[in-house]
Amino acid sequence: MSDKPKHFLDIADHSTAEIEAMLAHGKALKARRVKGQLGDYLPLLGKKIAVVFQQPSLRTRMSFDVGINELGAHVLMVSGDEIELGHRESIADTARVMSRYVDAIMIRMLSHHELLELAHYAEVPVINGLTKKSHPCQVMADVLTFEERKGSVRGRTIAWSGDSNNVLASWVHMAAKLDVTLKVATPEQLSPPKALVDWAAANKVDLRLTHDPDEAVDGADCVITDSWVSMGDGDKEYRHNLLRPYQVDQKLMARAKKDAIFMHCLPAKRGEEVAPEVIDGPQSAVWDEAENRLHAQKAVLVWALNAPK
Ligand code: CP
Ligand code: NVA
Repeated sequence: MSDKPKHFLDIADHSTAEIEAMLAHGKALKARRVKGQLGDYLPLLGKKIAVVFQQPSLRTRMSFDVGINELGAHVLMVSGDEIELGHRESIADTARVMSRYVDAIMIRMLSHHELLELAHYAEVPVINGLTKKSHPCQVMADVLTFEERKGSVRGRTIAWSGDSNNVLASWVHMAAKLDVTLKVATPEQLSPPKALVDWAAANKVDLRLTHDPDEAVDGADCVITDSWVSMGDGDKEYRHNLLRPYQVDQKLMARAKKDAIFMHCLPAKRGEEVAPEVIDGPQSAVWDEAENRLHAQKAVLVWALNAPK
């Protein structure tokens, strides 16, 4: 294969136009599905796509499986353990071999460095299904969800209360592409890493960091949180102690705009990062958010494989 594969590794790597085109296509695909008009659009017919998980997943696994099927392609679902990813042979050799069998690779692995290595040696597009550093597919779905409820995300304020993690990093990248104001409250010890803050500054992101959740949420259009312990985090008790004041409860949510929405990538722990009355309340958009993984990722796949829209 001579052309460079079109990877989807980080939102940061893409132009605003590319991101916007994928989001628009994701919305169109959702509308088509709602109308029951999927049967006449099979842009990936005959393609084979590997979906590899080194870590657990419900949403990413099912939404890619269903999405790939709906686009007409065949899924090869593989666990990292089955192929002893990174142990039985080098990541580079794994990439070279997989590229001879499949047309694209979607992978979840903790090491972002290894993801980049895989992408470097792959001759087919590689899609990031979450690393310790970022979760770009999630934030594509988040924007789709925000926009279907509240219109364009441009110029809007998104608040984050909790741990600084992979989902937040992808939101920082997205904020640069779509001119979002991002107000982030974390404990000092769990602040965003310097590299991410420097990236935000270099890319003119309106990123406002605080340790006070009230300050972050005041006047926001959307409030987001995520689990206090992400995959690969070992220090559970330490994190719980630090993050307890960052729970999104009704009192915190009330500081946002009256019509603000609540999002969470899930899985959620009610009573920890979010109070049940918020996640199960009228402002919560979490089930649409989970569904929208499907539509957003189908658009990413069509883009990556240069398939017709
Ligand atoms: N939000 C998300 O990526 O969920 P899974 O870990 O279940 O895939
Ligand atoms: N931040 C979470 C997201 C899970 C989808 C994690 O990395 O575990």
